[in-house]
Amino acid sequence: MKAKIIGTGSYLPKKILSNLDLERMVETSDEWIVSRTGMKERRIADDNEYPSTMGVEACKLAMMDAKVTPEEIDFIIVATLTPDYIFPSTACLIQESLGLKSAAAIDIQAACTGYLYALSIAKSFIESGVYNNILIVASEKLSSIVDYEDRSTCVLFGDGASAAVVSKNGPGLSVESVCLGADGEQAELLMLPGGGSRNPATQKTVNEKLHYIKMAGNEVFKHAVRRMEAASKQCLDQVQIKEEEVSWLVPHQANKRIIEAIAKRFTHLPSDKIFITVDRYGNTSASSIGIALDELMKTNTVKEGENLLLTAFGSGFTWGASLLKFTRNA
Ligand SMILES: CC(C)(COP(=O)(O)OP(=O)(O)OC[C@H]1O[C@@H](n2cnc3c(N)ncnc32)[C@H](O)[C@@H]1OP(=O)(O)O)[C@@H](O)C(=O)NCCC(=O)NCCS
Repeated sequence: MKAKIIGTGSYLPKKILSNLDLERMVETSDEWIVSRTGMKERRIADDNEYPSTMGVEACKLAMMDAKVTPEEIDFIIVATLTPDYIFPSTACLIQESLGLKSAAAIDIQAACTGYLYALSIAKSFIESGVYNNILIVASEKLSSIVDYEDRSTCVLFGDGASAAVVSKNGPGLSVESVCLGADGEQAELLMLPGGGSRNPATQKTVNEKLHYIKMAGNEVFKHAVRRMEAASKQCLDQVQIKEEEVSWLVPHQANKRIIEAIAKRFTHLPSDKIFITVDRYGNTSASSIGIALDELMKTNTVKEGENLLLTAFGSGFTWGASLLKFTRNA
């Protein structure tokens, strides 16, 4: 028995931050941002929108899509690096808002690979028979940790949420395999230095801007391409599927050039089979492949028996890939 994604949902805040808006905030240009990242705009949460509230909206849509009721959810796993609070978990806040009375709840933190880590945990609980229905959620308010005076990072990130119901039964996307990896040696190349117990908030940490994302963009870029390619190939090997049998690539949306570099290594995949949202939403971290997957499924272009390859990379470093197969009759 394979765990299946039987419903997906996503939520994007209404407010748009365009490249032209950014031109008025820092020394940058639409031309630079488009040519280096492929991004044209990204969404920014309102002051009263949080990962919990955005996650709730994504979950409602995923549960509706899956035709499951709140009583049927056994477990909720939230992947986020921008939780509403350090504690209690964002998962508990969503559990309460949705009235998931019988669900256990936990947050996980695997940065931009969070969706795949959550999927892997859900797959294990379902396939071992512990739970029947699990909500996985990825929700980020990255605008709360971006320095809008730092042009090297502020153009890249956006806010949004995605969710999926992972179940024992039903038609949908069978989770054939999830491959995960990590390398803590590179931790300092992409991090938020302040606010944890090593550098708790003080006037000094605020003055030194330690509560914002710090990134060595160039280095991260190279690792991202290498790791996502390797994870994807490892995942295909594990399920003994050839590259040419992959119908769709749903990559983490960090930079269009990173996606193109990975696509080049998949010579059989035409560009219209690589699902892109980075132009509209930027990098929404853990949420990114969940949002892309939801939008792809809602286009109704995925056909019976087609294979979808998901891959992601993020701070830690963490990375992963997953192979999903679409089956209407289960
Ligand atoms: C951040 C990133 C877009 C920068 O692109 P790049 O081609 O590597 O650019 P560089 O960092 O080499 O910078 C080139 C120049 O552009 C400048 N620059 C940086 N941001 C700029 C901006 N928004 N507008 C204009 N110029 C900018 C730099 O200051 C640098 O100028 P210099 O040569 O005078 O020093 C790219 O490295 C990237 O996407 N990295 C990975 C990010 C990522 O995926 N993060 C999350 C992982 S999940």
